[in-house]
Amino acid sequence: MAYQTLTVEIDDYVALIRLNRPEALNALNSQLMGELAEATAEADRNEKVRCIVLTGSEKAFAAGADIKEMSGKSFVEVYNENIFGDEIDRITATRKPIIAAVSGYALGGGCELAMACDFILCADNAKFGQPEINLGVIAGIGGTQRLTRFVGKSKSMEMHLTGRFMDAAEAERSGLVSRVVPAAKLIPEALATAKKIAEKGQIAVATAKEAVNRAYETTLREGVLFERRSFQALFATEDQKEGMAAFLEKREPQFRDR
Ligand code: HXC
Repeated sequence: MAYQTLTVEIDDYVALIRLNRPEALNALNSQLMGELAEATAEADRNEKVRCIVLTGSEKAFAAGADIKEMSGKSFVEVYNENIFGDEIDRITATRKPIIAAVSGYALGGGCELAMACDFILCADNAKFGQPEINLGVIAGIGGTQRLTRFVGKSKSMEMHLTGRFMDAAEAERSGLVSRVVPAAKLIPEALATAKKIAEKGQIAVATAKEAVNRAYETTLREGVLFERRSFQALFATEDQKEGMAAFLEKREPQFRDR
């Protein structure tokens, strides 16, 4: 499908989705969020895709929700539209892993979108922030919840109350991103990481994603039980037999996703 606010390239089982509204630093408007939800769902259905990389431009992953589009709306309008609620739910429902590759600004809804992915790799010029407080509002697509789980209450509260930005080093130190790489290497590194994931057995990949997400969505006891049963269930797959046999035979595994 052709999109106007983003591009999708598929190569070697990896879909690279680039947000593409350069005139507004990739601000998230309703068209972009609708197209992104559709593009991730399409990648989820596509057998030629095993992992997704979501990125923006070098200057901005996304500078937040589109303030021009939002500014005149009433409570009733944003309530009835459930602004971006359905779209972000569809994006987080993607079963295949999504890596956010963040260069430049990831602010407001942009920071929230990155956090809604499975993990964040960032460039050394990345800047994260929840500056909605400066607009008289607060985060609206998960920021108060996800940032707090990533970096803890104290830093999250400070970020949301002051609107200050966090640089790449602080983001790595505080656990918001998995790794920082030089800006010029961000996309190659994100694609190489995605490719590494694409080479694994995809049933185990999907199960690992589900199990790690349980850590955010349930109690420790329930999460550990979910993991235990999922681990046991993987012994019903051919990939488990192949993976363990390959190790014992000192060769590379040939996973067949069954
Ligand atoms: C609409 C935006 C935008 C945004 C930037 N632009 N951010 N348009 N919505 N969020 C536009 C500018 O208006 C400008 O357009 C062009 O992009 C370039 O931006 P500049 O400000 O000129 O660039 P610069 O001086 O480099 O500053 C970059 C910036 C700044 C620091 C990122 O643009 C900024 O502070 N943006 C807003 C960040 C923000 O408040 N985000 C939170 C939004 S609320 P023109 O036409 O003038 O050239 C939110 C809520 C989420 O995200 C919840 C939703 C449910």
